[in-house]
Amino acid sequence: MNFPVNRKRRLRKTKALRNLIAETRVHPAQLVLPIFVHDNYNDQITIDAMPGVYQYSIEKTLAVADKALKAGIQSVLLFGVPSEKDQRGSTAWFEGGVVQQATRKLKTRFGTDLTVITDTCLCEYTSHGHCGVYLDGQVLNDPTLELLAKVAVSQAQSGADIIAPSDMMDGRIGYIRDVLDDEGYDDKAIMAYSAKYASGYYGPFRDAAKSTPIAGDRKTYQMDARNGREALAEIKLDIYEGADIIMVKPAMAYLDIVYQAKQACDLPIAAYQVSGQYSMIKAAAEKGWVDEKAVVLEDLTAMARAGADILITYFAQDAAGWLNE
Ligand code: PBG
Ligand code: ZN
Repeated sequence: MNFPVNRKRRLRKTKALRNLIAETRVHPAQLVLPIFVHDNYNDQITIDAMPGVYQYSIEKTLAVADKALKAGIQSVLLFGVPSEKDQRGSTAWFEGGVVQQATRKLKTRFGTDLTVITDTCLCEYTSHGHCGVYLDGQVLNDPTLELLAKVAVSQAQSGADIIAPSDMMDGRIGYIRDVLDDEGYDDKAIMAYSAKYASGYYGPFRDAAKSTPIAGDRKTYQMDARNGREALAEIKLDIYEGADIIMVKPAMAYLDIVYQAKQACDLPIAAYQVSGQYSMIKAAAEKGWVDEKAVVLEDLTAMARAGADILITYFAQDAAGWLNE
């Protein structure tokens, strides 16, 4: 194996050769498009920190999903931005809640062609912005489980295909699985945000979903960036509790975790290129400092190469277009 006999450049000579030997291929069907849905009449509301991403009305969400489907994206992830928030986050489990309404309409219109994934959390619905029951400055674990299960059931009832708990309470996957099964929703899959880190990269999302905690941070429930083995423990627990898909989040600074998750378990792995990672690319591209298409496709490829089967990205629509070129 030595030069001049061995020359790696032989197989890099043409685009066709490079395509022939490519080890990783990203396909639009792997992409998941996150959508922020609000419950007022405005068609779309700009999100300052995320150029190109909007809060959409329920009606406009149908058009956005239609466009995504035409580009080969088959899955959306819904986040609700309700106008009414309260201490418990009760609009999260309203039958007429924004995500429930949007899900019903999407499933009526697109049926099995579109997989609807719903974010199952409370932070977008609570007046304090935390992901659970908040009392005397503490986020209470066990009382939160009951509320999350109500959210999951109402989302299942409205037709969601996949329930995606993003709260990071202990035991929530098992609790939600039990309640879903009891209510007759044993066919609904759970995508667990298993290894979700407390991350500075969520900044723009909190602007988009209006979910910044009024006090404190999420470090008592989301993971510490310094810990890798602990992610594997979280993943094992979620598998034991009945998760169908495991997620690592954020993607880009945690590809070592994606890789280890892939080696350690045989469930599908999702990686989430989060809001801050989107915004950083957008900002640099606007300045002409990076080529947006090149870096987006490179990041998605890196996520897949690390082991992600499912790629969640705010670039999904553009990425699908580029992949189809
Ligand atoms: C809410 C939730 C967050 C994200 C997804 N679900 C924010 C948070 O935990 O603060 C982040 C997504 C992103 O930044 O793109 N539990
Ligand atoms: Zn939350």
